[in-house]
Amino acid sequence: MVRIETERLTLRPFCNADAGEFAYLAGDWVVASMTSDIPYPFSARQAANWLAPARGEVRFAIERQGRLMGGVGFYRRSSGIAELGFWLGRHWWGQGYTTEAARAVLAQGIRKRRLPGFSSAHFIDNPASARVLLKLGFEPMGHATIACAARGRDVEAVTYWLDRNQAVRVLPAYARQEAPRSRWRAWLGRSRPV
Ligand SMILES: CC(C)(COP(=O)(O)OP(=O)(O)OC[C@H]1O[C@@H](n2cnc3c(N)ncnc32)[C@H](O)[C@@H]1OP(=O)(O)O)[C@@H](O)C(=O)NCCC(=O)NCCS
Repeated sequence: MVRIETERLTLRPFCNADAGEFAYLAGDWVVASMTSDIPYPFSARQAANWLAPARGEVRFAIERQGRLMGGVGFYRRSSGIAELGFWLGRHWWGQGYTTEAARAVLAQGIRKRRLPGFSSAHFIDNPASARVLLKLGFEPMGHATIACAARGRDVEAVTYWLDRNQAVRVLPAYARQEAPRSRWRAWLGRSRPV
């Protein structure tokens, strides 16, 4: 898996050495209780298991100045659609870091993996996640009930969708990298001998 550099962040694969810090940051109730799959309490051993690469999953650690801050990634459904997920240690909330990291991961997924689109969801008591998804260009689709490991019960959630065409429009990094290639094709088209 590649590393991605954004304006302020490095997105890199998780490694075993992250387990302790990951358990500390993601095992915080305010984080774990808003995710479907992070239990509470969350031990370093559980974190190490969670970090083991799983088939169909793309997970990046969010890092700044060498410090692990959070995670962002997606897993592929059998339909090919990718389900986006993210979390950030509470110390760094409200500074646009998750939006910046998720935007780069979406752009990379669209560009490199030819994904047809992304889905995502947040629990109804999570307005910050709703705001992140809207800033990324997602649209609300409906409601669902999703199991929350930390709360130990099902929780009502809002589901979201971002299709490939909309993603290309709203992800500037993607557009910047695609433009030269399309200009090149246009030039080839014009210069073909008649
Ligand atoms: C959701 C989460 C990842 C957001 O991370 P972040 O880095 O603070 O996100 P950003 O700074 O990029 O954007 C947050 C937006 O939510 C807004 N926001 C924060 N709290 C809010 C609230 N209570 N009500 C409404 N909006 C809120 C912020 O103002 C910001 O919007 P703005 O840029 O328009 O001002 C972080 O809060 C988190 O990890 N929460 C726990 C885990 C989680 O919810 N994961 C997602 C599961 S779906």
